[in-house]
Amino acid sequence: MIYSLIGLVLFFGLFYLYLQSKMFTVFHVNVQSKKVQGELRLIQITDYHGNPWIDLEKLKTSILAFKPDILLFTGDMQDNFDVPLERSLRLFRTLRELNLPMVAVLGNHEQGEGKEQYEEALKALGVKLLKNECYQGKIRGNLFTIIGMDHPFHASLYTPLMRQSTGYTLVLCHASKLIREAVTGEEGLILTGHTHGGQGRIPGIGAVYAPGEGFFPKYDKGLYHIGEKRIPLYVNSGLGNTFLPLRAFNAVAYAQIRIRGEEE
Ligand SMILES: [Fe+2]
Repeated sequence: MIYSLIGLVLFFGLFYLYLQSKMFTVFHVNVQSKKVQGELRLIQITDYHGNPWIDLEKLKTSILAFKPDILLFTGDMQDNFDVPLERSLRLFRTLRELNLPMVAVLGNHEQGEGKEQYEEALKALGVKLLKNECYQGKIRGNLFTIIGMDHPFHASLYTPLMRQSTGYTLVLCHASKLIREAVTGEEGLILTGHTHGGQGRIPGIGAVYAPGEGFFPKYDKGLYHIGEKRIPLYVNSGLGNTFLPLRAFNAVAYAQIRIRGEEE
């Protein structure tokens, strides 16, 4: 009897952990800016790690319903280069069908041998990869600059890029720790990932541990405001896992972001 009970608890426990990695949710992020007229709609996907359990057609439909202007990726879409590239490329291939600009930076799991081949594959799929570079464009009449920082972040490369920025400035950076100390005050929004929200969380407390942030971190997941000018920094807990495919009280997710204009 006791063994049946333990078996049942184990079964439902594992099933719950599986669902936390498969059934993605959507974060809704709202930011205001005097530099925007009307509204910009962004999608941010991060730390996918080639998650084999995500239903990509369902993801594409969910994104399409939001009617975004651009798709942004903040690293660790691939879980190292010792697993087939196809694990991450299939996501880009599916989202390419939306015919939207795709702009990405790389994370810590996308460094080392294999990086060159990966970068070529992303380029072939129409992904604009930024490695300490700017990307400028216009959305609904709004001039914007995206500053994409390669991993690891270097403040000495960031500050000159910020000086070149015009219009509304979006910053893509895999990990938030170092950029928090380098913020210039001119950023419109900084998008990051890396923490996975701790993967396992304690309700009411948050992450027990997050990479790069340590135990019981403040910046584990969500929207923060940093520096004297209270620049919005979003830490996205990601669409996948690394090491163990386990999540608790922290379902995988992507972000739908609205940037609305505000009066001067
Ligand atoms: Fe990651």
